[in-house]
Amino acid sequence: MVEAYDRAAADYDSQVQGDAWMRSALWERYARLFGPGHSILDVGSGTGIDALFLARNGVRVLGVDVSPSMISEARAKLMNARLEDLVEFRVMDVAQLGGLRGSGFDGIISAFASLSTVADLDGFAIDAARLLKPQGTLLIHLLNRWSIWEWLGLVRKGRFLATRHLGLHLDRNFVIGGRSVRHYLYHAHEAYGRFFAERFRLRRAYGLGILRPPHTFRWIPPAVVTALDRLERPLRARRPFVDWGRFFVLELEKR
Ligand SMILES: C[S@@+](CC[C@H](N)C(=O)[O-])C[C@H]1O[C@@H](n2cnc3c(N)ncnc32)[C@H](O)[C@@H]1O
Repeated sequence: MVEAYDRAAADYDSQVQGDAWMRSALWERYARLFGPGHSILDVGSGTGIDALFLARNGVRVLGVDVSPSMISEARAKLMNARLEDLVEFRVMDVAQLGGLRGSGFDGIISAFASLSTVADLDGFAIDAARLLKPQGTLLIHLLNRWSIWEWLGLVRKGRFLATRHLGLHLDRNFVIGGRSVRHYLYHAHEAYGRFFAERFRLRRAYGLGILRPPHTFRWIPPAVVTALDRLERPLRARRPFVDWGRFFVLELEKR
């Protein structure tokens, strides 16, 4: 798994460019939740895109990631941005979060499926609760189990049998850096109830990429994409739409 992300690191920022709109949606939430003087842990920080955004807003960040190459990319960007006073990046597996000193963070974020490769989110939930201050915020952005667009893609290719199995897979392999990486898939309320409810209150659960198509659907005209994006916004937190997006977000408060 580390090798896969190491191989993906150099190209990572251009690969996620097509989802810049989703990044903006996350940044809107970060800007509301975190401000100057706050201290945030970014789990699976990748090349530091979110950490640097937060630091530009005066937020102190510790970014941890299992991939040394992702961390190297992040450190290079950090030096260019001259934000070393606010951000530190460390090579660290999620499973090692127990080694960090507790109760110091105002918030923990984990974006773009960094936690989707972690088989045991119970362990993460315990560590996150210990690392957060009372009423601290945990914001996680995970792959959803299936999406409408994936379903439509299969229908378009005539793979009708595959559409019937789409929501049934609890884990799936995705190719990253030319390697197959297992991802564990949930719906928003299922993940909350199963891993987080004991230690966190649910502030918000919402889907992203429900009606707005993935950027790989290039045949859809930009005006239609914009219209679908507008249509999606009021539906994101509503059932059943919350379960239909490519990703979901849980915004949680430590009990
Ligand atoms: C798709 S990238 C997302 C990076 C970043 N959060 C972002 O929003 O762009 C997933 C990241 O999670 C990291 N990751 C995956 N499993 C991890 C683990 N068990 N511990 C720490 N980092 C992990 C990968 O190395 C990779 O950098």
